[in-house]
Amino acid sequence: MADIKTLSEFIVERQADFPGASGDLSQLLTAFRLAAKIVSREANKAGLMADILGAQGTENVQGEQQQKLDVYANDLFIRMMRTQGAVCAVASEENDDIVHFDNGGKYVVTMDPLDGSSNIDVNVSIGTIFSIYKRISTGAKATLEDFLQPGSEQVAAGYIVYGSSTMLVYTTGHGVNGFTLDPSIGTFCLSHPGMTTPPEGKIYSINEGNFYDFSDGVRNYIDDCKKQKMSARYIGSLVADFHRNLLKGGVYLYPGTAKSPNGKLRLLYEANPLAMIAEQAGGSATNGSMRIMDMKPTELHQRCPLFIGSKAMVEKAMKA
Ligand code: AHG
Ligand code: MN
Ligand code: MN
Repeated sequence: MADIKTLSEFIVERQADFPGASGDLSQLLTAFRLAAKIVSREANKAGLMADILGAQGTENVQGEQQQKLDVYANDLFIRMMRTQGAVCAVASEENDDIVHFDNGGKYVVTMDPLDGSSNIDVNVSIGTIFSIYKRISTGAKATLEDFLQPGSEQVAAGYIVYGSSTMLVYTTGHGVNGFTLDPSIGTFCLSHPGMTTPPEGKIYSINEGNFYDFSDGVRNYIDDCKKQKMSARYIGSLVADFHRNLLKGGVYLYPGTAKSPNGKLRLLYEANPLAMIAEQAGGSATNGSMRIMDMKPTELHQRCPLFIGSKAMVEKAMKA
């Protein structure tokens, strides 16, 4: 039998990746690991609940269920971080403002606790995205400035995909590693060590329903993908689309339009963390004109266009 390495063993083994680390960051990853298992359990039950309640009026029930899991995941991740102590404040998609813990923790976290929430009630993959920064302000409380650091300052970033299996993928700037949850023992095991993405692939992922709102360049690029007989794949859960393309090679695009020049996705807790993972795996991430991680954020919930995935494909999409 092959050796099994658990996420906790791996975290301890790699603690030295953080110069001067006191173990705080390792503990934080441990908090994410536990929250991920609980969300995974709840996400698995969501399909069952929707079936049971479906007869009572699908729209209401589906809407409620979806909202419940968004809020549930948000509360859970925040609770896990609060009890753990390394994080002093969190910015989440589900909270208008910064959530302070007042505990002197030296890190701040940004997160999308449940990504792809419109897919919960139809049994399609969803995810969680997180990003970790060192706090830079020195006062009693963390400030906006701590959260508006460019993505290049991320200490670590990761995502969890709740799909046909649950996987946690993260980087601390020393490559990307993926762990699959073995539900029979409730443990994340190292299944994808040293993940790299192919420089080129055959998949393009974009919401083509917006075709006529895109720029000529983006439309030309889509046409070209069709001429090249590439495969169109779009789940509508960024994490799941990104994860598939990372493994197989591909490009994910969520461009701006005349009406929404910054697209839909959020810089702090969607684009930046996935950009760090993409780059660490040998891929790239831009907003169509510059590197995502070089953007200087100005707002907590700022949106930005996103071109992410295999390097050659991102470059080609930008030139189109
Ligand atoms: P969230 O569920 O966190 O609000 O994110 C939804 C996002 C992202 O997951 C997905 O890629 C995108 O919305 C899909 O948007 P469209 O429906 O506009 O394609
Ligand atoms: Mn999202
Ligand atoms: Mn979300």
